[in-house]
Amino acid sequence: MHRERTIIGNWKAFLTIPQAEALTRHLVAGMPAFPDGMQVVLAPSFEALTEIKEEITTTPLKLGAQDLFWEDQGSFTGEVSGRALAALGIEYVLVGHSERRQFGYETDGIVNKKLVAALRNNLTPVFLFGETRIERDEGKTEEVITRQVAGGLSGMESDELLSKIIYAYEPVWAVGGKAANDVAATEAIARLTRELLFEKAKKEFAYTFIYGGSVDTTNAASIARSSLIHGAVVGRASVDPAAFISIVQAFLSSA
Ligand code: PGA
Repeated sequence: MHRERTIIGNWKAFLTIPQAEALTRHLVAGMPAFPDGMQVVLAPSFEALTEIKEEITTTPLKLGAQDLFWEDQGSFTGEVSGRALAALGIEYVLVGHSERRQFGYETDGIVNKKLVAALRNNLTPVFLFGETRIERDEGKTEEVITRQVAGGLSGMESDELLSKIIYAYEPVWAVGGKAANDVAATEAIARLTRELLFEKAKKEFAYTFIYGGSVDTTNAASIARSSLIHGAVVGRASVDPAAFISIVQAFLSSA
């Protein structure tokens, strides 16, 4: 039971503005037509958002930011608020990426405040969670996912609110090409996430669950074939236009 197929290109800090513009032009030129029920989102770093917005105005591509601050305005040097992103016409925002959790910037409590701030500003949050290699080896995957999902969604009980969030499982051990991904393991987390969400809302509802971590042209088709996985967050492969287009195509063919 899901809303829409969503493929997100997370450009991290890979590109300068001119490089991001060039990539976008290649993507616009080569992107196949995709149906209404599918979203393709580009998430450049903050400084390139305005330029990339210009490049995609007449296309079905959507724009996302890689982070936001939890307050809407005030004395918060260096931060970018959800309010400012919404004013810029941004529709999506990543929240809780492992590269932000990893260096101690983000706890489950901070992720929760950022999810609330995104929803308050009518942005669609892409809520990322996932276990590390050590946690996986210690058999703690379910425990970690349960804690991250519960912590991130603290105080959110209604299906109306919960269905606005995109749930992105990104096992830290698979991010950045560290390992081949494992569709069966992702499907187990998809089932766990469904249980946690329906338990919280006390009813079933439609939502989107996607996978991230080393998605590339060699594995996109097998991920796309799973009825439990509704899209992908793509890092490194998303800055290679041919690779990203072929990943979108893989999801398109299995839709
Ligand atoms: P990757 O990154 O595709 O390079 O593994 C995914 C992500 O971190 O969002």
